[in-house]
Amino acid sequence: MSAQTPSCQLLSRDAFFDDPDFAGFWAVAPPDDPWLVSAAGGTISADEATLERWRLADKPIASPLGQPLEAVPAAVLFWPKALKLAGWWLDWLSQSLPEGTPLAIVGEHGGGIRRASKMLAERGLECEKRDGARRCSVFVTVTQKPEGAPTDAAWERFSAGDITLASHPGVFGHGKVDEGTALLLEALESTLGDAPLSVLDVGCGDGIISAWLARRGHRVTAVDVNHFAVEATRCTLAANALEGRVLASDVYAGLEEDVRFDLIVSNPPFHQERNIDYGPAGRLIAEAPERLNRGGQLVLVANAFLPYAEPLERAIGKFEVLADNRRFRVYRGK
Ligand SMILES: C[S@@+](CC[C@H](N)C(=O)[O-])C[C@H]1O[C@@H](n2cnc3c(N)ncnc32)[C@H](O)[C@@H]1O
Repeated sequence: MSAQTPSCQLLSRDAFFDDPDFAGFWAVAPPDDPWLVSAAGGTISADEATLERWRLADKPIASPLGQPLEAVPAAVLFWPKALKLAGWWLDWLSQSLPEGTPLAIVGEHGGGIRRASKMLAERGLECEKRDGARRCSVFVTVTQKPEGAPTDAAWERFSAGDITLASHPGVFGHGKVDEGTALLLEALESTLGDAPLSVLDVGCGDGIISAWLARRGHRVTAVDVNHFAVEATRCTLAANALEGRVLASDVYAGLEEDVRFDLIVSNPPFHQERNIDYGPAGRLIAEAPERLNRGGQLVLVANAFLPYAEPLERAIGKFEVLADNRRFRVYRGK
């Protein structure tokens, strides 16, 4: 099996792969690449879909928000595009791995990997560029226990109207209310009645939609594939003295099979790091009828240019546009 993603193709070359210091390395925040699952000893990821893939391959897994790490001989961090998140991972790895653990950092030039050496130096870590190809570079260093602030300090709070939002680097929006989400909430305000509904918020992010609905008396279940988002939504609900069930789930995959809702609501994702990915939104729409009670509705907001009309029609039949400000459109299917 050969590597598919540019970063993994670089790692599979001799300059990195033959280094005995990295034998059995764990992949941190890895892309979806079957070669990596077979080549690495395990993974550390905050992405539930990634963890599930590695779990199915019988590889050990860990979440940065889960149990403390067991023995990890070496780690390779796949540089995320969000710089604050990249910095957080460097701090977390230095705190969580034994001092002196070999650490490699790999990523695409277009994704900001060239910042890695400066950010390592800011943390007192010297690094060496080990290899470069496929518009990617890999740097190697060893961990040192940091003197600085603990990684918990990365959690922040923001206000959005009368709602307090908790957020963390890597969580969508991170302090800003998305224009599409704002349009969605406006549309919900004018269309939802007073009767409390059972609601599923898919891709809950910092929990803004869930908190808004829970404040209006609806019974909220919130899911997100990203563990930081799950924790952010839990903290947002708690910060506003609201209740809801929040779980890590790849769209509907983490829900019990027989659970149904009166309303499914979402500002669905269409990116996976730097790549467009309609997969989760497609599944959200296609499987919505199986997840809705009789008479239930799916309400979602999307950039106006995104091709959601056809999948909506295929899954739900007739749908209406509740709001359209040219940049974003709110769809409702019953
Ligand atoms: C556009 S953001 C919306 C966040 C929040 N609901 C808001 O309106 O600000 C999309 C969210 O979907 C999440 N997401 C991405 N892929 C997912 C998947 N396969 N299953 C569940 N959530 C996913 C992302 O982590 C992100 O939080």
